Amino acid sequence: MNLAVIGSGGREHAICYKLKQSPKIKKLICIPGNAGTQKLAENIKEDISNFEALYQIIKKQKIDIVFIGPEQPLVDGLVDYLNKKKVRVFGPDKFASQLEGSKAFMKNLCKVHEIPTADFGVFNNIDEATNFIKQAEVPIVVKADGLAAGKGVSICQSKEEALKNTKEILKGKFKSSNKVVLEEFLNGEELSFFTIVDKNSYLFFGSAQDHKRVGEGDNGPNTGGMGAYSPAPLLTHELKEKIKKKIIEPTLKIMKDLGHPYTGFLYAGLMISKGEPYLIEYNIRMGDPECQVLMMRLETDLLEIIDFATRNKIKDLKIKWTKKSSITIVLCANGYPYNYIKNSEIKNLSSILADKNNQVFHAGTYEKNNKIYSNGGRVLNITSLSESLTEARNKSLSNLNKINWTDGFFRKDIGWKVINNK
Ligand code: AMP
Ligand code: GLY
Repeated sequence: MNLAVIGSGGREHAICYKLKQSPKIKKLICIPGNAGTQKLAENIKEDISNFEALYQIIKKQKIDIVFIGPEQPLVDGLVDYLNKKKVRVFGPDKFASQLEGSKAFMKNLCKVHEIPTADFGVFNNIDEATNFIKQAEVPIVVKADGLAAGKGVSICQSKEEALKNTKEILKGKFKSSNKVVLEEFLNGEELSFFTIVDKNSYLFFGSAQDHKRVGEGDNGPNTGGMGAYSPAPLLTHELKEKIKKKIIEPTLKIMKDLGHPYTGFLYAGLMISKGEPYLIEYNIRMGDPECQVLMMRLETDLLEIIDFATRNKIKDLKIKWTKKSSITIVLCANGYPYNYIKNSEIKNLSSILADKNNQVFHAGTYEKNNKIYSNGGRVLNITSLSESLTEARNKSLSNLNKINWTDGFFRKDIGWKVINNK
């Protein structure tokens, strides 16, 4: 089969890595891809917001299935566009993509259908938002309604800070929406819970935990993710059943009832508080960097999974995972998540052994004259698989030490809550 992967991050490199292992793959293209996908697929440069241009490539390359990695084209309706052209595509339609594209949509759905989530209010007016803040207890969580590349959420320790951030959002700091969602702060442990969904059924697709804060000990501003590990030791059988019954299944039923059955990966960002799951957010795609650790652990043919899912036959498959643990550490460009250094050469990458236990997934990179350069905030994902998380982290750290790049930084403590350092 011929597959096209849309996107250019570490997630898409990891997806290409698995697809390429399938005995059924004939042609693999990545639009636009990066220096890592280039080694596995044909990279085709195109603006991924230009749906007509994407369709022309897909037609010309005789693509059987399109895999969409990032949220923006999903929220903008790429699935609807390609479906109309009779292209087989993996991902949710524009309506269902509101689960991530609008926090107000997701929160209202939870409220009406009693899906556990933090108490909240949605506002487009400063007076009403101010009243909510006055009556709320700190910390107050302030969120932009629309997509904000992981930067739309602040946890405010004072009412003044909450009011300031609320005003900025209402004034249009994020172009995707002027609405603000104000939330009660939930205490607990975070868990990323993945499912793969088709029109008839769904399957669990692994668990992970990521580290969103830029600094060690989970301090500093939020990022797209500084590292992740899988499986999440927090997820017991009992908790998994609760998450399915209280969160995933009601959501899938509602989307069906609304006439837009969900399809694709559905990733629930959860807070586990006293053994009970609360939905923090939905993502309508794989996580990045969570995808990288899940792909290291996946034993079933990914192409077959996507093939079955896009034919609404996912329940006929059994998805297998290794019990081993995987960890990924994100190497970032100095300055990230603010203005960061670009076009800086990264040396010695080829000294890292690549095998089924060690992979360097590229994110913000490009190749020029056989040299690798950075062009993003999150640049490389140093990923390992091992018998224990401690061993996996040690491998990733030792691989990181082989890279010669003074313009980058990384967190040495990924997994600190579950790895015993002593
Ligand atoms: P989100 O983009 O909604 O996932 O939020 C980003 C991060 O902010 C989450 O991963 C949590 O660490 C934190 N967060 C969001 N909402 C809450 C909440 N209601 N209570 C506590 N932490 C939260
Ligand atoms: N790592 C968080 C995300 O992909 O949204």
